[in-house]
Amino acid sequence: MINDIQKILLSQDEIDAITTRIAQQIDNDYADRSKRLLLICILKGGVVFMSDLMKKIRRPVEIDFMKVSSYGNGTESSGRINIILDLHRSDLSDLDIIVIEDIIDSGKTLSYLVEYLKLNGAHSVKTCTLLDKPSRRQVEFEPDYCGAIIPDEFVVGYGLDYAEHYRTLPFVGILKPEIYEK
Ligand code: IMP
Ligand code: MG
Repeated sequence: MINDIQKILLSQDEIDAITTRIAQQIDNDYADRSKRLLLICILKGGVVFMSDLMKKIRRPVEIDFMKVSSYGNGTESSGRINIILDLHRSDLSDLDIIVIEDIIDSGKTLSYLVEYLKLNGAHSVKTCTLLDKPSRRQVEFEPDYCGAIIPDEFVVGYGLDYAEHYRTLPFVGILKPEIYEK
């Protein structure tokens, strides 16, 4: 696996500092809120990030999961968003929600999900991403919490995959282009 990585973009220590910083920001921002705070992990890529982040948040939080259709096996987004796993909750009005993503690329996934959760009555919806590639945006979108801004490279590890591989690497690295250009 490691031989397929061209360069490490975020080391384990750097990711640790990011999750510590964002957890503190969330604790500060939600300190005076009376609503329940729900973290929604977008499967599968967000799972490693959310697992580490939630352990560092001191206030009470609930967790849930959603899954949307995404890249398939390639490195280009199809642009069409389908919800494959939804929240099985009827009433979101008592919830402040933070959607947790691995990476923002075109911006289509998160902008769609934020609208969807608001339409379904969430009290508030914010977004948190480990990585952001702003140069790739196709729709205007700014995350509320962002771990690191990265250049337009295809990255894997720490939850991020290429064709379901590399998710278990403990760091984020640039995949050698010859792997997906084969
Ligand atoms: P968006 O809707 O185009 O913003 O797509 C975001 C999704 O695309 C992420 O949740 C990832 O699943 C996937 N993605 C985008 N860039 C990368 C990458 O560099 N590596 C792995 N997955 C990526
Ligand atoms: Mg993803």
